Amino acid sequence: MSAPPLSRPGAQRRSVGPVTEIHVGPLDPAAWDQSIEIGRIVFGDSVSPENAAAEHSVLSDDRVIVATEGGPGGRVVGSTGSYAFDLTVPGGVTVPVAGVTNVGVLPTHRRRGIFRQLMQRQHDDLSAAGTPIAILNASDARIYGRIGYGMASRYALVRVRSGATFVGDVAGRNLSLWRSADAHGVLAGLYEAARLVRPGTVTRSEAWWQMLLGPTENWKAGGHHEVVVVEPEGDDPGGYALYRAKHLSEDPFGEKIRLEVREVVAATPDTHAALWRYLLDVDLVDVVEATVPVDDPLLWRLGDPRALGPRGTGDYLFARILDVPAALSRRRYRCDVDVTIGVVDPFRPDGAAAGTFRLEAGGDGAACERTDANPDVVMGVDVLGSLYLGGVDAAVLADAGRIDERRRGSVEALALAFGSARAPFCATHF
Ligand SMILES: CC(C)(COP(=O)(O)OP(=O)(O)OC[C@H]1O[C@@H](n2cnc3c(N)ncnc32)[C@H](O)[C@@H]1OP(=O)(O)O)[C@@H](O)C(=O)NCCC(=O)NCCS
Repeated sequence: MSAPPLSRPGAQRRSVGPVTEIHVGPLDPAAWDQSIEIGRIVFGDSVSPENAAAEHSVLSDDRVIVATEGGPGGRVVGSTGSYAFDLTVPGGVTVPVAGVTNVGVLPTHRRRGIFRQLMQRQHDDLSAAGTPIAILNASDARIYGRIGYGMASRYALVRVRSGATFVGDVAGRNLSLWRSADAHGVLAGLYEAARLVRPGTVTRSEAWWQMLLGPTENWKAGGHHEVVVVEPEGDDPGGYALYRAKHLSEDPFGEKIRLEVREVVAATPDTHAALWRYLLDVDLVDVVEATVPVDDPLLWRLGDPRALGPRGTGDYLFARILDVPAALSRRRYRCDVDVTIGVVDPFRPDGAAAGTFRLEAGGDGAACERTDANPDVVMGVDVLGSLYLGGVDAAVLADAGRIDERRRGSVEALALAFGSARAPFCATHF
């Protein structure tokens, strides 16, 4: 079956060096330090000893795969791991996923196919365990398309003028302030109450909360934050924001305090409004900065939309579908659709994502199974991963040459059905 190719940016020069036997397999727990050392070397000093301990508290040994030199017990030269999450997908339902993390190969061993071997083994293990999807966020966005990951969510980094007014009133709510170290119990419950609202949200384990609110700070979590909680009222479970104030300048004409918001979690529009009203009204603050969904309703609440200055957008989740029927039958669709999708998966041509599948779906559920029928559309498995969370319109992907329409009208049908009322967003850094 011919189809638009998977992403394959320019081929890389292969390293020249001694070729020794490489073994890829599960981590020997005694070699944990070596596997985390890979992360320190390839990602820089963000992996301190304290961070390594925090990481070990959330990543179990049996979810780590390593490449070793000179046989199974040899020196670790490459590593990958994954967390077990439940991912919210369109329709307010969840699917079990692997959150892939800490992918690295020593600079002395690069471009000899070790990354490919690690990914092959990880995909095989996840498939055998019945995990239909893997997700990740990429330090380098060029390398994952070729193994079947597609960009599935984006974020917006925004700055909002402190004091910016809203259109309409905000219902008064009871607020309380907490220190992040003391807030674990209350925040976990509020997060859980809001978890199904937005596609892209992942579950957080008890250990994850300990790391997130713990003293050890890295890009994933940690460090002291202020916590404001909107208390429950009636059917509204409430929500919270994690933030901290950063002093910028003593210059009387300069920007003095910036509020850096780590996350805003709200199950309802009223709570979302109450949290943002609080954040925009903190005294002495000039500007509030936050990473938010690309369609965050905040923009539409502001009396002056120019009080919000987008500073940029970026990619966050990449999704790799490993089992098309399991993945597609799990989510909900915005309208009825009956479409036959051809999926090209050169990295796993014999896997459960390669082939032609009939999807009959709607708002209440979906059935998806393999078929011998001719496909209405053909796409790479990475493109199906991009569509999956509803973060991009199928028509845009077709315009970009990434979907081949074989039956007229089928791209439009896909676009309508796969759309999501809320853009996917993941506030968990993993
Ligand atoms: C990126 C990294 C994991 C690649 O490991 P590797 O063992 O050198 O990769 P491989 O030899 O298996 O290469 C697999 C393919 O990806 C390509 N590739 C690898 N790194 C690439 C890069 N940075 N840019 C573009 N293509 C790349 C290779 O050319 C190869 O292509 P081919 O299949 O067409 O031959 C490794 O260089 C690394 O650890 N980098 C620093 C950390 C990092 O970026 N981690 C991943 C992001 S979270």
